[in-house]
Amino acid sequence: MPIEFSQRIRRIPVYPVASGYDLGPDVAMLASNESPFAPLESVVAAATSVISGAHRYPDPSYSELRHALAARYGIPGERIALGQGSCDILLAAGEALLEPGAEVVYAWPAFSVYPHLAAASGATAIEVPLDAEDRHDLDGIVQEVTVATRLVLLCNPNNPTSTALDLDAITAFLDRIPPHVCVILDEAYCEFALSLGDTYASVELLRRYPNLVLLRTFSKVYGLAGLRVGYALCASEDFRVAVDQVRQPFYLSAAAQAAAVEALRWQDEVERRVVQTIASRESLVDDVRRLGLWVAESDANFIWLRLPEEIAEADVLSGLRDRGVLVRAGTSLGRENALRVTVGTDRENERFVAALGELVR
Ligand SMILES: Cc1ncc(COP(=O)(O)O)c(C=O)c1O
Repeated sequence: MPIEFSQRIRRIPVYPVASGYDLGPDVAMLASNESPFAPLESVVAAATSVISGAHRYPDPSYSELRHALAARYGIPGERIALGQGSCDILLAAGEALLEPGAEVVYAWPAFSVYPHLAAASGATAIEVPLDAEDRHDLDGIVQEVTVATRLVLLCNPNNPTSTALDLDAITAFLDRIPPHVCVILDEAYCEFALSLGDTYASVELLRRYPNLVLLRTFSKVYGLAGLRVGYALCASEDFRVAVDQVRQPFYLSAAAQAAAVEALRWQDEVERRVVQTIASRESLVDDVRRLGLWVAESDANFIWLRLPEEIAEADVLSGLRDRGVLVRAGTSLGRENALRVTVGTDRENERFVAALGELVR
């Protein structure tokens, strides 16, 4: 007889992980919205230097990292949640806030982990379709908020469509959400969003909305995806306490903590990388548009394009793969006949455009 698993295991969707890790080094990895820039030498040194103390558990209060983030954003450390990637905080939020009978509302397509929250907790997911430009329909989301709503997720800039809401739109939206409903503004890519202003602008909102949480990560702009560090800036300490309550202690390794602290010291370099990524993104968008394809207005480190109806997404994916380019299929992210392409190095981007040109012409 096979092992009998819980009902929730049957409900939880399998995360669409990127493939191609076995293809060898000469592959343009444009499928996971990672940074094409390796961590700085001093960040690598900081992570390496703590390995000799690995017989001890890491600091379970994450005090150095917490203080560094508190100093950077001007909010108390008790209101900063940390996690093994921001995904960890997201899943913990689902566990802390949701249960059968509760509802979670979010736009769709958005980050592929969101459906997991309802499936794991037995809550109901209300998915509000994006508008014709692949942007959030904020009115549509507000209309779905009921007495049963516990959580609203806004992905800004939105993964996979790369579009962003501006701060005025978010503020007007927050004014319409009842204070008992937790709103997580998932800002994994906010540093790349010109339309958002600087990365402190949304932090100001925490003063006005006690139900707001800003979810951020070291995986993208700081180039530490492999070390898994995320954080949430919370308007109230309650959120941080609740997500800590549902998780194991010691979720951040000493190396991850040390690397994140050091990475925060190099903001000029981070800024330089952002400028370079945005410049590369703009040329990538232009190049793809020159092939005659629709591309969403990107505010992220990736772009989102639609393929012509007569061209099969699966053929383009495998054609790109044959040419050593890995991107993400729209179908696996909630929308058919589309591609999500990470902004890579200029060489990788050129390789992608050349390969795509051969396939769609
Ligand atoms: C919108 C969004 N939120 C959160 C995450 C999670 O990132 P991490 O767990 O690496 O911090 C991702 C990762 O791709 C993302 O796209």
